[in-house]
Amino acid sequence: MKVDVLLGLQWGDEGKGKVVDVLTPKYDVIARFQGGPNAGHTLEINDFKQVLHTIPSGIFHENKANVIGNGVVLDPITFEKEIQSISKHGVDLTKNLFISKKAHLILPTHRLLDAASEEAKGDTKIGSTLKGIGPTYRDKIGRDGLRVGDLLENFEAKYTARVNAHKDLLENYYHYDYKEKLAGLEAEWMKAIEVLKKFNLVDSEHFINDNLTENKSVLAEGAQGTLLDIDFGSYPFVTSSNTICAGACTGLGVAPQRIGKVFGIFKAYCTRVGSGPFPTELHDEVGQKLRDAGHEYGSTTGRPRRCGWLDLVALKYSIMLNGVTELIMMKADVLDTFETINVCVGYEINGEVVEKFPYELNDSVKPVYVELPGWECDLTKLTNQNEFPEEFNNYINFIEDEVGIPITIASVGPNRDQTIILEE
Ligand code: GDP
Ligand code: IMO
Ligand code: MG
Repeated sequence: MKVDVLLGLQWGDEGKGKVVDVLTPKYDVIARFQGGPNAGHTLEINDFKQVLHTIPSGIFHENKANVIGNGVVLDPITFEKEIQSISKHGVDLTKNLFISKKAHLILPTHRLLDAASEEAKGDTKIGSTLKGIGPTYRDKIGRDGLRVGDLLENFEAKYTARVNAHKDLLENYYHYDYKEKLAGLEAEWMKAIEVLKKFNLVDSEHFINDNLTENKSVLAEGAQGTLLDIDFGSYPFVTSSNTICAGACTGLGVAPQRIGKVFGIFKAYCTRVGSGPFPTELHDEVGQKLRDAGHEYGSTTGRPRRCGWLDLVALKYSIMLNGVTELIMMKADVLDTFETINVCVGYEINGEVVEKFPYELNDSVKPVYVELPGWECDLTKLTNQNEFPEEFNNYINFIEDEVGIPITIASVGPNRDQTIILEE
């Protein structure tokens, strides 16, 4: 069996959580492969809404294994809160959740270092979610990190040594007033690791590969989006992991030839939260209309998301990097009331139009648009492609023709049921 991968093609918040939940019945195992509680994946299941940060979005289906892979960074405090909130719905997490012993731990001081680093950057700050992601991955790559497996043996000494090094940085490099904040966080963290230790802590690379050998199917769930990838995103305004498909190999321990389908998720327009370039961003009332209609406020931080038109230059770049085999278009309903819709098909840079994503997206990049007619009707109640208005079919066909990959699912609302499978 192969591992199918589902990931975001833009700047995150494309709707990955919703689609993972919808696709879970087809799979035996759902596995997160990178990122951490910077992610906020929203599920709307009939009468309730749940935002997941660390736990895979397959958790509300019975008899499915949900794996937190080695590539993830885990904060025991967020984890505990998430467990409490999910347990209210009667889900037995001790049975169907498996956590890699190789996943790195976000320590209380990582969060403080994130805050100190952003503060020190001033106007050039990344706009981090302040969950400690950058400092934790920095320790991992610097070979100083602590892993979930470390909790099982001689943990205190390892913890104290690492936290002392962080305190030194906070005090003498950042001159950051951390003592009071750390005391509160640390107490909460120590309590939370006792909860974490009660779960199935496993060698997840064996767990996943054994499942594949036994003919079980696996869906890998990405976090963030391709344009936030540490290597290929709009560096330095990125996150600290490989969000692209290759990240599923390193973040789960699956070989490249084991990758099957690659589902690339994109919104019918674009959003970005945090700092960094965004060529199609709209600073006017059209941008505000998108924000209002799409409820574009961060699932993790509540910050208003920056909004703009769909960018096909960026989308093609993301499709190339991930080897996308199927596209999934989200939030089409948000465009329901637009008379016309713009789609960016090129970038004008110093008088020349390019269709290839450039080294850097700076202020000289101007989007070149094609204007398409809007459908001006309500898509949210539709259940079948046959009911699509002509202009919506045109919008889908235009994108498919430009990027050369089929759109196989269109999402027309946040609920599980508002998901339409398209004919090839
Ligand atoms: P993720 O991080 O990629 O999982 O996406 P988020 O959950 O952060 O953001 C997506 C938001 O859009 C959530 O509030 C979803 O409930 C909502 N959503 C998902 N699909 C649709 C859709 O097709 N239409 C509308 N209107 N909302 C959607
Ligand atoms: P999901 O999985 C949208 C953004 C932050 C910031 C940058 C770095 O819900 O799509 P970090 O906390 O990683 O140091 O922040 O990345 N960011 C996200 N934006 N969705 C996310 O996750 C994000 N995770 C991080 O806003 O600009
Ligand atoms: Mg999100």
